[in-house]
Amino acid sequence: MVDEIEALGPEFFADPHGHYRRWREQGPVHRVRLPRGTPRWVILGYAQARAALTDSRLRKDIDGMIAATRQQNPHTAFNPESLNLGPHPLNSDPPDHTRLRRLIGPAFTPRSAEAMRPRIQQITDELLDSLADHETVDLIAAFAMPLPVMVICELLGVPYTDRPRFRAWSQLLVTSTGTAEQRHAASREMSAYLTDLIEAKKSAPGADLLSDLVRAHTASHLTADELLATAYLLLIAGHETTVNLISSGVNTLLHHPDLRRTLQQDPTRIPSAIEEFLRLDGPVDFTTPRYTAAPLPVGPIEIPEGELVSISLAAANRDPAHYPPPHTITLPTPTPHLAFGHGIHHCPGAPLARLEAEIALTSLLHRYPTLAPAAPTPTHHYSLVIQGLTTLPIHPTTP
Ligand code: HEM
Repeated sequence: MVDEIEALGPEFFADPHGHYRRWREQGPVHRVRLPRGTPRWVILGYAQARAALTDSRLRKDIDGMIAATRQQNPHTAFNPESLNLGPHPLNSDPPDHTRLRRLIGPAFTPRSAEAMRPRIQQITDELLDSLADHETVDLIAAFAMPLPVMVICELLGVPYTDRPRFRAWSQLLVTSTGTAEQRHAASREMSAYLTDLIEAKKSAPGADLLSDLVRAHTASHLTADELLATAYLLLIAGHETTVNLISSGVNTLLHHPDLRRTLQQDPTRIPSAIEEFLRLDGPVDFTTPRYTAAPLPVGPIEIPEGELVSISLAAANRDPAHYPPPHTITLPTPTPHLAFGHGIHHCPGAPLARLEAEIALTSLLHRYPTLAPAAPTPTHHYSLVIQGLTTLPIHPTTP
């Protein structure tokens, strides 16, 4: 049993994989204290993580999560209302979860993603055209960010011209920047924005996912709270993650000339490389909170009932017992990774994110074959919600 609970501070965020290596030596599960003081179990091993992701003793419903959080940390400043932790798929268990997934499912099949290919290619080409005028450019601001934002806006039916507003809210919510009050304000403003948009779709529905969800609400298949929370989740999850996948993929290629040459010579291997970018630098790590509805044995430890658990996808994806060698790119990826989760909450956006990354990387390498880094190290952020690069200065063309 672990007696002393280590607090997660800046040194953890500066080197999470160093910490995982050390913790793993003590077993496949570790107990830490989150920055605001709440204890949480972290599952590190690949086999244990995969099993936990399908274990019904681990639950996600928001009322249970709040009760477990308060039980673990009576002093928590956790305020679910102000963060709009509403009843969306990621905060629910069957049967509600099954119903919500069924409602969004048709928009996220591999075939639906494939149907968007021509439009994603067109957006990509236009964004890449705009890089040609620059000697140096931040690839995230000019390409990796606008591409998924435009795609999720079109899919959901959110006006792209509103992006400065929801990007700012979303950034505050997924990174550790800003104060708790700023994050709560961002969440309230985002909810108010989406509430207005939902009202507008009620009177003038379109051919988009938000209009489909509004129709489902009118037919009593989902409540007003579920509608708002699901729209909120989709708008954030639909772009923050894919921005990081594209930018970390490009950054890896800039620093691995052999891999880059291989992919330039044979672009059909790009999807396989994307799986390795997801495994090694997946944007989601700790954002898998659950609570134990019954005692849960993990390796030699039994986690008691009513405790909070995160499955570290980043640690599992580099488990040396599962991926020899764990920290280097191997094409093709030896076994499926867990970057999109597993089980009933497996990411529905995975086919779309993979397609966007494939089109982005293939087109970028083709259009700018001599692309080069413009700074020795790009800036990086690692928070409990999401990790990735914040800027990626490049020269589109090496003189
Ligand atoms: C769930 C990762 C892109 C929408 C998840 C989960 C992970 C994940 C790990 C499950 C978390 C858990 O089990 O606790 C990623 C990554 C992405 C990505 C790495 C891109 C590289 C997207 C996109 C969308 C999306 C593009 C939508 C357009 C969702 C939704 C859920 C989810 C709605 C909740 C599913 C459920 O609870 O049943 N994602 N995601 N994601 N993701 Fe993604």
